[in-house]
Amino acid sequence: MQRGSTVYLYELAWILPSIAIPIGMLVALVVFAFGTGKHLPGDEGRVNPTRVMATAPFDQPGVVQVGPGAYEVRMIAGIWLFTPNEIRVPAGSTVTFVATSRDVVHGLFIPRANVNVMLLPGQIARVTTRFDRSGEYPFFCHEYCGVAHHAMWGKVIVEPTSEANIRRVDLGS
Ligand code: CUA
Repeated sequence: MQRGSTVYLYELAWILPSIAIPIGMLVALVVFAFGTGKHLPGDEGRVNPTRVMATAPFDQPGVVQVGPGAYEVRMIAGIWLFTPNEIRVPAGSTVTFVATSRDVVHGLFIPRANVNVMLLPGQIARVTTRFDRSGEYPFFCHEYCGVAHHAMWGKVIVEPTSEANIRRVDLGS
């Protein structure tokens, strides 16, 4: 009897942590994901990949202002370029990329802006980020898509706002 209950306590000492540790990790994951704004890019619907160029909004790829300080980039990935591959927005902008592929699987990776999405033919990806500091933010295709995959890149040019210009002048004088 004495020996039996000792074994039971040992079992309990192993079983309880094996439940508590995964629960603790799950809680840490949820807190980190929501606390730091990490999220999966949304699936914004479907598009016929053979008719991307004729389907809104991809029939007019480029940058459009959708609100004060808010821009939307309508982007098509295809072998082996992004359209558009040079994007200009003022510093402090919130930019939503609405993107898809017109042929094979590509990716959109902006290392300095927390953007990392796959661009699948037929599927529209949507991801939003903020560009607070002026400068150049290169982006790359990070899914192997053929012989010129390495040449598939572009850049977001974040232009200093007039306010930032004034501050720079003040610092310079
Ligand atoms: Cu497109 Cu790699």
